[in-house]
Amino acid sequence: MDKLVIEGGIPLKGEVEISGSKNACLPIMAATLLTDDKCVIHNVPHLKDVDTTIKILSSLGVRVKKEDKTLIREEGKYTGVTASYDIVSTMRASICVLGPLLAKKKEARVSFPGGCVIGPRPIDLHLKGLKALGTDIRIDGGYIIARAKQLRGANIYLGGHFGSSVLATANVLMAATLARGETFIHNAACEPEIADLANFLIKMGAKIEGYSTPTIRVTGVKSLHGAEHEVTPDRIEAGTYMLAAAITNGDLYLKGANPGHLIAVIDKMRESNCYIKKINLGIRAKRDKKNIKSVAVTTLPYPGFPTDMQAQMMSLMCIANGISVITEKIYPERFIHISELNRMGSHILLEGPNAIIKGVDSLSGAHVMASDLRASAALVLAGLIARGKTEVHRIYHLDRGYEALEKKLVKVGARIKRVKE
Ligand code: EPZ
Repeated sequence: MDKLVIEGGIPLKGEVEISGSKNACLPIMAATLLTDDKCVIHNVPHLKDVDTTIKILSSLGVRVKKEDKTLIREEGKYTGVTASYDIVSTMRASICVLGPLLAKKKEARVSFPGGCVIGPRPIDLHLKGLKALGTDIRIDGGYIIARAKQLRGANIYLGGHFGSSVLATANVLMAATLARGETFIHNAACEPEIADLANFLIKMGAKIEGYSTPTIRVTGVKSLHGAEHEVTPDRIEAGTYMLAAAITNGDLYLKGANPGHLIAVIDKMRESNCYIKKINLGIRAKRDKKNIKSVAVTTLPYPGFPTDMQAQMMSLMCIANGISVITEKIYPERFIHISELNRMGSHILLEGPNAIIKGVDSLSGAHVMASDLRASAALVLAGLIARGKTEVHRIYHLDRGYEALEKKLVKVGARIKRVKE
């Protein structure tokens, strides 16, 4: 297993190129199951989760190859309908093969994804939506076994306890493209990753209106054809580098970052004394004033502040003037990074879903353990400003979601290296 060793204290300066979005790419790759034609997807990041999705598609009999950042799903019928436990258990996003398999093959066997370190992650909304389309679903031996003679359009309310669901929207949207008649998905997720998926499906011949709004209308078609698509830039990666610029008191230009996808993050960063500006085809990020100001942040479904930026924002608040409060409304247990940040000298107290952070002047390097993808990124950010050496262990999480993280950071001046444990 690898670890990252960081010597803190260098302001990061220069240009970082933002990669294609992981969370847009994975459902788009699953959507290629809806056709037997060739599909070409550009701007696919080099990530472990992408490799895992390639493994799933291959295990179903789909021929897929990746040439640099282009993924080619070759023309040809596939016969597999089972996404097995060995693969699904390593990546929750595997659940998004359920909708396309069902629509195309009329049956699917997908291992139950289970919970993870960011808290329970149920799939009731996925199943509710697919059942409403006429699917017969049972759970057997840890597998979701789904069958449908003919999917039929329906009126589906997809809101849950914590609001809309991104991957449930993706699953139901994909299944509905081949259903007979019209489907309305109410309380649909409005995340840019859903818009990117909808754009890809439309290129494949799907009839979809209203995506990026809470009500999506899908008119089913008989079949979908191949398509070519370029994946949208990763807004969470971009936001993480915006915070890297601010926390290190540096100045970064994030090439390819889309400020329109980061409105809530930009708003909170500006409030905390950061300068964020759209420049050409990207974003420039730095501090606006010498000191970072504490702010109150609440995570919410898009366009609210993303839960996937909560941990990284907390790292910035660790060195803000005053007391900040971060409330997690999507995954109330997604706070494993707190104990690790406190090992580095931060003052964070957890009260239910609220983290109360008393800003300190500086952090000090320590051994810390990465627990999930975004928590790992938060620890790297903290390490970049800590006095002395920080060692971030178990960084395989980072490889699931940040393309060439340490290479990108080294290029803008960070002293960070990957070392075998
Ligand atoms: C997506 O997960 C992302 N993953 C997550 O990113 C992200 O944190 C999350 O959306 C929220 O933005 C991918 O896109 C691959 P949800 P998803 O269903 O779709 C509850 C990262 O770090 N819920 O939108 O699985 C759920 O428990 C990852 O890149 C139900 O109650 O999340 C949560 O409270 C981590 N029932 C809320 O909805 C369901 O059936 C939102 O989750 C499904 C979800």
